[in-house]
Amino acid sequence: MSLFATMRAPHTIVFSSGQRHALPIYARALGQRALIVTDERMGASSELAALVDGLRAAGISVVVFDRTLPEAPLDCIDQCVAFRQSFGPDLVIGLGGGSCLDVAKVTAILLAHGGSPRDYFGELKVPRLVLPLIAVLATAGTGSEATQVAMVADSERLLKVGIASPQIIPLVAICDPELTLSAPAGLTAIVGADTLTHAIEALTAERALWMR
Ligand SMILES: NC(=O)c1ccc[n+]([C@@H]2O[C@H](COP(=O)([O-])OP(=O)(O)OC[C@H]3O[C@@H](n4cnc5c(N)ncnc54)[C@H](O)[C@@H]3O)[C@@H](O)[C@H]2O)c1
Repeated sequence: MSLFATMRAPHTIVFSSGQRHALPIYARALGQRALIVTDERMGASSELAALVDGLRAAGISVVVFDRTLPEAPLDCIDQCVAFRQSFGPDLVIGLGGGSCLDVAKVTAILLAHGGSPRDYFGELKVPRLVLPLIAVLATAGTGSEATQVAMVADSERLLKVGIASPQIIPLVAICDPELTLSAPAGLTAIVGADTLTHAIEALTAERALWMR
């Protein structure tokens, strides 16, 4: 029998059409003051309005940061942290593609521990728990909803840089395929290539020593 293990994964993964409506159930268990991190497109959508209504009906205060830019530039993360630090969120919800989820992850680090994203570049630099994170994805390629990685764009280095730590794995990943239906064909193709690449990596990666 092949060995199988799931390590470093969200506590809860829910997958199915319509599951976004379960967000308040999971959010209520994790916090009372939610910062939603999304982008302009989603910010103007009826989907977001419905999710915010659902959270408020569950007694959760909500603020929405809808200025995430593709590739998660550092400036955008600074804006997100500054945006409603005074609101004192105790829960961060990333809603959108990989860029929104990654900005949500880094925001959860900075709201918990302060500093700048650059302080956490590399592996295992996040000292302790971050704010609880829920990922609600709108693309199906990056896997950010389940990974311990946030990729950000550092304009000084002209590079994408990773922050990798098990602390930033979302506690809950809500995968609702209906949220991907609005994606243009080109985006669907690109995220499909991302998915295929991840799958090939999994097949070709060296087996962990203890599994040999
Ligand atoms: N954290 C990780 O493990 C990980 C892994 C791979 C890639 N990444 C990062 O993820 C980012 C890319 O994420 P992505 O490919 O999901 O795209 P994205 O989040 O950058 O979004 C790209 C564009 O598509 C739009 N969009 C997203 N979902 C949509 C939808 N459902 N309908 C219509 N428009 C939509 C967005 O508004 C944006 O303009 C990169 O920054 C990459 O480095 C992260």
